[in-house]
Amino acid sequence: MIKVIYWTGTGNTQKMAENIVCGIQETGKEVEILEVSNATDKDIIDAEVLVLGCPAMGAEELEDSEVIPFIENNAALMQGKKMALFGSYGWGTGEWMDAWKEQMASLGANLVAEPLIVNEFTDGQDEAICNDYGKKIVG
Ligand SMILES: Cc1cc2nc3c(=O)[nH]c(=O)nc-3n(C[C@H](O)[C@H](O)[C@H](O)COP(=O)(O)O)c2cc1C
Repeated sequence: MIKVIYWTGTGNTQKMAENIVCGIQETGKEVEILEVSNATDKDIIDAEVLVLGCPAMGAEELEDSEVIPFIENNAALMQGKKMALFGSYGWGTGEWMDAWKEQMASLGANLVAEPLIVNEFTDGQDEAICNDYGKKIVG
């Protein structure tokens, strides 16, 4: 079972998550999508690939009330875990994702693909990009 776990403020990262899930489903793999507030350590343990999504928040940071605690509380479970990261951003250049990728690598996660970032979410364009990413991370 692949798990796609995300946080969203205004819906862009949610749209990314939903389209990534469609791509995964098109490969025939089983996938579950859930918001980080509903995710538990068991979801991480059970995940064949753990796909985490969070937009750029703060000043090029992860969201701090749910996402940072989720990662900190479950850091030990990320070691050796097959993972992929994604998220939406606004005005920056993706620094938050570079830092997140580095953090996951330092926890020993096995990133199966480069992270996917999209600027806000452009309807009619980003669905296909996210769908392709879903296929890529399970391929
Ligand atoms: C409080 C706050 C902080 C933000 N900080 C950044 C930032 O540091 N860099 C950036 O590129 N975008 C930043 N943004 C823009 C969001 O990352 C962008 O709007 C994104 O599409 C939001 O995704 P969401 O709809 O999933 O919440 C910030 C937005 C908010 C509300």
